[in-house]
Amino acid sequence: MTRAIGMNRRAALLGIGAALSLPKAAMARAACTPKMSLGAHAASAGVTFGCSIGVDALDDPAYMALVQREARILTTDLAFKLPFINPDRGRFDFARADRLVAFAQVNEIPLRAHTLFWDLANPEWVTRLSPRDRAYEMDRIVDTILDRYRGRIHSWDVVNEPFWPGFGEPGGFRRGAWYDAMGEAYVMHAFKRAAAADPSARLVLNCDMSERDDDLGRSIRVSILRLVERMQDAGCKVDAVGLQGHLDPSLPFDPGAFTAFLAKLAERNVEIYITELDVLDTALPRDIRARDAAVARQYAIFLAAVLEVPSVTVVATWQLADGKSWYRSDWYRSVMPDLPPDWRARPLPFDDRLQGKPARDAMANAFCRAGRKRGE
Ligand code: G3I
Repeated sequence: MTRAIGMNRRAALLGIGAALSLPKAAMARAACTPKMSLGAHAASAGVTFGCSIGVDALDDPAYMALVQREARILTTDLAFKLPFINPDRGRFDFARADRLVAFAQVNEIPLRAHTLFWDLANPEWVTRLSPRDRAYEMDRIVDTILDRYRGRIHSWDVVNEPFWPGFGEPGGFRRGAWYDAMGEAYVMHAFKRAAAADPSARLVLNCDMSERDDDLGRSIRVSILRLVERMQDAGCKVDAVGLQGHLDPSLPFDPGAFTAFLAKLAERNVEIYITELDVLDTALPRDIRARDAAVARQYAIFLAAVLEVPSVTVVATWQLADGKSWYRSDWYRSVMPDLPPDWRARPLPFDDRLQGKPARDAMANAFCRAGRKRGE
């Protein structure tokens, strides 16, 4: 197990020490030195920066040194997903989750557990259950998993990607085992059960595709606002809405419209987490320098838009260095068979040698500019 030296606590204390002697605006400027980590740059804007992590990374000391230097919050990638943590009915496999939770505790870094219910990625046994048994198993899943990790999780992605308007369901819901068994009430039920199981944890509704400024993205934004309101009216504790941020430059993005959507969401008194930020570069130039510059521009434009809204308190990338990206995985290639065989994605702030890319600088600058604006 990788043991840091409490890097994040020491950095935070140093930062607090320095900050106490400076006015807020000067503190933001003071935090903006090129050598500072992304975590420190984000902190100057009151934002917690982090990334997702797979349990395999714990055995990669060089990568973990980068993660511990840059990230101040971690999101589990596979460990808490049902196909991995509850592979068969009544059988739980906590090995991956236990290792990540232990690492986070030893290194004093908050851990986001992703995700309990995702109708796009249910294990086979769930889809074979009767609707009544699915409701029973939902409760067993929440009670068993949250009981084991109570008090050790920063936030739970209770429900992931609940919308797919293509099914034509009221509210734009994605059909699947949980929705088909309980309707949209599965979301409320899962959140209420989770609140009872771990009152200390923040509960997050994690959504995709809201970033795109086309009919689909605009429809998803309406669905998110409607569901959050209905959940709150039903007495659900919704601490944050996660907006994944898998950016695709081939799709339209309107910064002003997206900022307005986040401001409207913030009116519901929820925090907003950008939970899975990366940039798909298949439509960008193959030339590395040109592609890296284009990816950096995407990060700059997107973060400038989202950091306008003070309710954005977490920004996390989906992994941290290109070599760990899901866009490099066999799984992604299997769902995108026409990718050129020699195509190697470069979606993240750090490259295969764990060196900062233009995207990393773009993120740092965006955090610093936001820190100055928020400090004014
Ligand atoms: O580890 C097994 C390996 O042993 C086996 O040989 C191989 C067979 O294909 O599968 C491997 O597991 C795969 C795993 O990724 C590790 O590569 C799973 O099949 C595959 O389903 C899994 O895909 C993950 C996907 O979520 C589904 O869980 C991706 O890594 C992960 O990046 C992706 O992340 C999602 C978020 O949870 C939600 N938002 C979208 C995001 C990207 O799709």
